[in-house]
Amino acid sequence: MLSSRFAALAHYPFRQLADLIQGVTPAINDAPIDMSIGEPRMQPPAFVHEIVARHDGDWNRYPPIGGTAEFKAACAAWLNRRYGLRRGMIDPDTQVVAVAGTREGLFAAAFLAVSPAAAGEQPPLALMPNPFYQVYYGGAICAGAEARFLTARKETGYLPDLDAIDGETLARTQIMYLCSPGNPQGAVADLAYLKRAIELSRAHDFLLVVDECYAEIYSGDEPPPGALEAAAALGGSCANLLVFHTLSKRSSVPGLRSGFAAGSPECIDLFNRLRGYNAAATPLATLEAATALWRDETHVVATRARYRAAFDVAERLLAGRFDFFRPAGGFYLWLDVGDGVAATRHLWREAGVKVLPGRYLTQPEPDGSNIGSRYIRVALVHDIATTEAGLSRLTRAL
Ligand SMILES: Cc1ncc(COP(=O)(O)O)c(C=O)c1O
Repeated sequence: MLSSRFAALAHYPFRQLADLIQGVTPAINDAPIDMSIGEPRMQPPAFVHEIVARHDGDWNRYPPIGGTAEFKAACAAWLNRRYGLRRGMIDPDTQVVAVAGTREGLFAAAFLAVSPAAAGEQPPLALMPNPFYQVYYGGAICAGAEARFLTARKETGYLPDLDAIDGETLARTQIMYLCSPGNPQGAVADLAYLKRAIELSRAHDFLLVVDECYAEIYSGDEPPPGALEAAAALGGSCANLLVFHTLSKRSSVPGLRSGFAAGSPECIDLFNRLRGYNAAATPLATLEAATALWRDETHVVATRARYRAAFDVAERLLAGRFDFFRPAGGFYLWLDVGDGVAATRHLWREAGVKVLPGRYLTQPEPDGSNIGSRYIRVALVHDIATTEAGLSRLTRAL
């Protein structure tokens, strides 16, 4: 009775984590600290609450599925400011669409690009990094593609090596997902890398989806470049390109469920068509708050400073251990603990600290090895005192 299409879909990592630690009771009296999920625990600016309250009468109206004109204009203006785009490169009407959190948008993006294979033909390919945000895989295989993983090793700067993709693979590729700054390793792709990815997508006519959800959380002086900036440097066309941005991380509102996709007018047009049938639309009150958040930078500067302080604590406690490194972007630690699954259970039992085994974010390599096996991912999403307590308990227990 159930579709065979989903047979290859394992339970999502957090369900796997719940199964792993089920029945294990922390042997300490202190409150547990959950560092497994990338859920920012700071409060957003107060104006979010005010705006949502002001629009409390709007619950009896269906929101426009693609977002309000004001929302889309605020997103386009932010893109222009953030990436130094010339005015007009991104038309809010035809090149921006609201998504109810980028999770659902990234999933749906695969349906824009993946065509069914003709009889006797090999299935289309969806390329994605390994390790990776699991939604790329879910979207790709549900849309009928075969997932092909591009290993993001330390030796390649924790980014897929684009020049190592063979011609046969590229010829079958219909969509490629990239993430910068990456989750979990926090690598930032430079402009040359992003240009190369765009060139490949155009030369082989596939859709390039660049997930820039952590674009505003970085450690250096310069903000990470974006794929639209790379498209601008290549002449300004957004052909074959969609970028995704979210407020969840930038503005600490994962509960608001608000992000957007921008880029190729052709893709946005089809996206809008498709979303007429399947979309989880963003409520009006949410869109109003989101519009104000995209227009404001003050809270983002404070947020970034908070993450930097959390990494300072991590560096103080962990430098020289577990192959610690301070990532260029994002808010995760990717720690080599020998056996990530065993360490996760041990940490929960001994220290009441919940982390995510690295192998829940990876797929095995063709030779059966798994580049995530030795690792745990630790999210620095709490206030500084809680972060310090969690990491101190972690170092003691491991
Ligand atoms: C790499 C990456 N992309 C996208 C998302 C989805 O974020 P949201 O659906 O809240 O916009 C996440 C959330 O953790 C993520 O880590």
